Amino acid sequence: MDDKLTQKLKQIVLYCRSGFEKECAAEITDKATGLELFGFAKVIDNSGYVIFQCYQDGDAQKLITILPFKTLVFARQMFVCGDLLTDLPTTDRITPIISALTGCIAQAGALRVEVADTNAGKELASFCRKFTVPLRQALRQKRLLLNVENPSRPVIHVFFISNNSCYVGYSNSKNNSPFYMGIPRLKFPADAPSRSTLKLEEAFHLFVPYEEWDERLQGGLNAVDLGACPGGWTYQLVKRNMFVYAIDNGAMNEKLLESGQVKHYQEDGFKFEPKKHNIYWLVCDMVEKPAKVTALMARWLINGWCREAIFNLKLPMKKRYEEVQQNLLWLKNELKNQQINVQIQAKQLYHDREEVTVHVQKIWR
Ligand SMILES: C[S@@+](CC[C@H](N)C(=O)[O-])C[C@H]1O[C@@H](n2cnc3c(N)ncnc32)[C@H](O)[C@@H]1O
Repeated sequence: MDDKLTQKLKQIVLYCRSGFEKECAAEITDKATGLELFGFAKVIDNSGYVIFQCYQDGDAQKLITILPFKTLVFARQMFVCGDLLTDLPTTDRITPIISALTGCIAQAGALRVEVADTNAGKELASFCRKFTVPLRQALRQKRLLLNVENPSRPVIHVFFISNNSCYVGYSNSKNNSPFYMGIPRLKFPADAPSRSTLKLEEAFHLFVPYEEWDERLQGGLNAVDLGACPGGWTYQLVKRNMFVYAIDNGAMNEKLLESGQVKHYQEDGFKFEPKKHNIYWLVCDMVEKPAKVTALMARWLINGWCREAIFNLKLPMKKRYEEVQQNLLWLKNELKNQQINVQIQAKQLYHDREEVTVHVQKIWR
């Protein structure tokens, strides 16, 4: 890639939940600075995305390569791009898009024409769907896109923010979200007791690689669900033929209890202790202060009461990014001090609202 083209790609776009732009901006600024890739974030409240502009030519491409996407909590997707293309003629939007991409990328493996996850974005979604077909054809003709989808090649993103303006760029297929708009499409199971069932399902998709599902999400494993009622998370575990200890003072879904795979204890989740050391999964969706939940998770992991944990940190406070960072850092240090080797991941899932979901896996050396 020549210098002129490197200059073109000076910024990255990050998609996020609408209302969490400041958190997403704080996080990318913090993490890019940590990698000595300096720049500044541009935020439009409730837009569902953030632009991070790098000061130095070449840094934006470096950033999408060396900053592991997995480590970003608030970003659903990230890709490098040039300046916003504006005033696209309604009769031919394709030519300026092709021209923006020419020389920046060759033989991409996929094309995603996307919008922000906002009401304004939804209004553009059907246009984007229709526009994808002729754009894909034109990109293939110019050899910017391969004729057959290839998951190991970069992904072209065309991100429309109005019907005549868009950001155009690409993500690295080994360091991006594999999902359109960074959102896994999950179907709500009609017999699940609550919509939050999708949170745990999404967490499994995100945090557990598919090739490990047979081992880590297999039938017969034991699980504990703290704050289980009415049973949306328990439903996901039961669906995978696990046996679940459901802890909550509330009322549990009858069908789940009838499955014979659920034992309901009407106890305080902060006091419950497993009688045997045979629990694989600990999941926790209790509405409590993040620090209290994090300390409880540390206790379970340090005591060897579970192998993997998935839990929610509720964020009703103002400084949400700082709150998440503090708790994750505390957990990491606490476990390290106890010589517990873990891998920690956290994400604001599509199905999360004012909260993020954390996954901790114990690693055996
Ligand atoms: C957000 S709901 C959980 C929803 C559940 N994950 C589902 O998918 O259906 C939070 C639950 O935590 C329970 N809870 C809150 N504090 C608790 C505690 N100290 N011990 C046990 N359960 C608690 C509440 O009773 C409530 O049912």
